[in-house]
Amino acid sequence: MTVTVSSYRAPAAAAATGVAPDRFKQAFRRYPAGVVVVTADAGHGPVGFTATSLSSLSLDPPLVSFGIGTTTSSWPHIERARTSVVNFLGAEQHSLATTFATSGIDRFAAPTRWRRLPEGEPVLEGVAGWLRLETEQLVPAGDHRIVIARVVDAWLDEGRSPLLFHDGSYHSL
Ligand SMILES: Cc1cc2nc3c(=O)[nH]c(=O)nc-3n(C[C@H](O)[C@H](O)[C@H](O)COP(=O)(O)O)c2cc1C
Repeated sequence: MTVTVSSYRAPAAAAATGVAPDRFKQAFRRYPAGVVVVTADAGHGPVGFTATSLSSLSLDPPLVSFGIGTTTSSWPHIERARTSVVNFLGAEQHSLATTFATSGIDRFAAPTRWRRLPEGEPVLEGVAGWLRLETEQLVPAGDHRIVIARVVDAWLDEGRSPLLFHDGSYHSL
């Protein structure tokens, strides 16, 4: 059966605010996503956070997007940094994902291993690959901002399996 979008009518109660938060979360628990850590340094030391919101956006020019919450500790840095790095986590790197989603710790302290790219951005050692990004747009989106960025460099560790997040936990293929 085909249901055209124009024939859909949203329930009146949801029209003003949108679907309830629990229903929203329930839907996305069923949606598997790759796991990355976004890192940057706006001149006040390295910052980074675990993210599943990375999307491939455009091939010409090569653009990606990711979402970042405006109440997160990383946001003021991402807002000011001209560049950032997307670190693709490998299947075995769930502890790194947990570290970069934990509040109030030094995420770059041992056992995290990291270095700087020639241009100065922090990059995590041992990841399955990374993209170096130059920010092009910061788009307001509710309690988040969408960062649209140009991919200016890419390194890939061929043959690595990705880390996935699904139904509240980490998985490999
Ligand atoms: C699997 C997973 C995916 C996440 N994806 C995002 C994301 O795409 N954008 C975002 O802003 N935070 C995301 N977070 C939350 C951040 O990693 C982090 O927990 C949050 O920024 C809180 O950091 P803070 O205590 O430094 O403010 C995700 C967390 C997890 C565990």
